[in-house]
Amino acid sequence: MHKVVSDFSKTVVVPEEGIRLASEPEPKVREKYINELDKVLITKGCLDARIKGLAREIANGFAGVDEITCVVVLKGGMFFAADLIRVLDEQSKLRTRLDFIKCSSYGDRSYSSGSVQMCQLDNIEGENILLIEDIVDTGGTLRVLQNYLKEKGKNFKTCVLLDKGVASGIELDFIGFRIPRVFVGGYGLDYAGKYRGLPEIVVIKKELLK
Ligand code: XMP
Ligand code: MG
Repeated sequence: MHKVVSDFSKTVVVPEEGIRLASEPEPKVREKYINELDKVLITKGCLDARIKGLAREIANGFAGVDEITCVVVLKGGMFFAADLIRVLDEQSKLRTRLDFIKCSSYGDRSYSSGSVQMCQLDNIEGENILLIEDIVDTGGTLRVLQNYLKEKGKNFKTCVLLDKGVASGIELDFIGFRIPRVFVGGYGLDYAGKYRGLPEIVVIKKELLK
């Protein structure tokens, strides 16, 4: 049965079985990955629709501001940010700048090593910063990034595509979807470097995870 998701004006909670727009066909997990993936959790159509909603929320959140610097967390946030920034520039009055920060704590595992490595970025002192991240689990990665960036910006906000709903002590200004606590891939997200190019958010089979 297709689930109708009509209200994209606020965070969408994704049920265990995943979500898709009523008009979309049943999502098809790519053939080549069929033995590695459990299911599609969020289809491309749902991602596109939610990103339009997020862009509206971000434009409202930065009301009175002309220009924002989008600081994208590499590598996972890349696909999401590319789509979001284009919608922002096309559909809002905000001008956008683009910058990147690299941050890694997972290595080739499905759980955090606890220590976060960060890579230098351009000078963004005094700018209106929007930090764009793919996913929040424990919140450890974002906490480090937020502490580092908060003081540099005149204005600082955080946007995440997916939130597993377990992090505490961090502020998330814009959330795309709240998802169950499963390990996901696709749309920029990877497991050991794989699945980033898939257009949907997929759930990776538990038995494959280390
Ligand atoms: P923490 O626990 O620091 O985790 O909030 C956030 C970072 O870990 C990665 N991460 C994932 N990557 N599928 C992924 O591909 C997942 O389900 C997942 N959960 C966490 C991600 O890089 C994020 O920056
Ligand atoms: Mg990441």
